[in-house]
Amino acid sequence: MKPDMKVTIAGVEFANPLMTASGCCGYGEELSGVYSLKHLGALVTKSITAKPREGHPPPRTAEVPGGMLNAIGLANVGIDRFISEKIPFLQKQNTRIIVNVAGSTIHEYVDICSRLEDQPRVDMVELNISCPNVNEGGMEIGASPPMTERTIREVRRVFSRPIVAKLSPNVTSVVDIAKAAEQGGADCLSLINSLVGTSVDINTWRPRLTNNRGGLTGPGIKPIALAMVDAVYNATSLPIIGIGGISNVIDAVEFFLCGATALQVGTALFIHPDAPVRIVRDLQDYLEQKKLSSITELVGKVRKY
Ligand SMILES: Cc1cc2nc3c(=O)[nH]c(=O)nc-3n(C[C@H](O)[C@H](O)[C@H](O)COP(=O)(O)O)c2cc1C
Repeated sequence: MKPDMKVTIAGVEFANPLMTASGCCGYGEELSGVYSLKHLGALVTKSITAKPREGHPPPRTAEVPGGMLNAIGLANVGIDRFISEKIPFLQKQNTRIIVNVAGSTIHEYVDICSRLEDQPRVDMVELNISCPNVNEGGMEIGASPPMTERTIREVRRVFSRPIVAKLSPNVTSVVDIAKAAEQGGADCLSLINSLVGTSVDINTWRPRLTNNRGGLTGPGIKPIALAMVDAVYNATSLPIIGIGGISNVIDAVEFFLCGATALQVGTALFIHPDAPVRIVRDLQDYLEQKKLSSITELVGKVRKY
């Protein structure tokens, strides 16, 4: 028998633990032209805000050793158009749908999530309290334990399905933020979002992003993400979705061993849009080699010194 790839988070069953990371495949339409989305455990959408956003002017991405920098600035269609134009497509997909939500104020998160409550096809919301690329909101909330707790508590009042809190690495103590999210009623934690970084063109002396700084993602951030997943796994009892530089089965296994129950793939999608599908297949082979019957047997099993 093939190893069981199903995972359950907050009562929601996923066919496999591999998800797309927010902002790395829009609303799934383009990706569905490459392969059927049924192969994903879940599709996580781009961050949705109350009003449509154009984002920052280009250049808003730059390649750097070990990954990339981006300062997209939360470009998205806004909640009205998301519901009228994107939900009809998502409704037809045979995968779990997680809608990532961003806001400048607690009220904005509440407002958007109350609209999503009326969309039964939305399985979970993921609250982006960790975007480093906008001047207002988001990060301000995600760097403060009391604000994190309050935001989740307020969203909890209007959204009855599971809430995922997406944590930032750009904080003094990710464990303190994780505990505050748990206290506020989060059902799951996802980590990490991007690390603040920049890069400068030595000919023009200009930063390579019009926002002057951006978020670092890709293979270079994996060790940081792993250490944070491990720390949060040991400090809270919430399930964790691991994110950060995952592009192959080795990365995936490391995250499970450090405590992740599911994974999101971001930057790697720009090189191999089918990376999550390949990882699921390779994980199955790995489990067979190790004579394990379920992916859940790996979770938190790192043998520490
Ligand atoms: C171009 C780009 C856009 C992103 N947009 C969002 C976003 O809108 N909301 C969000 O929560 N994270 C966003 N992220 C962060 C990713 O979801 C993920 O947390 C991060 O890229 C780390 O994973 P990776 O190393 O696999 O890319 C974005 C990342 C990239 C590269």
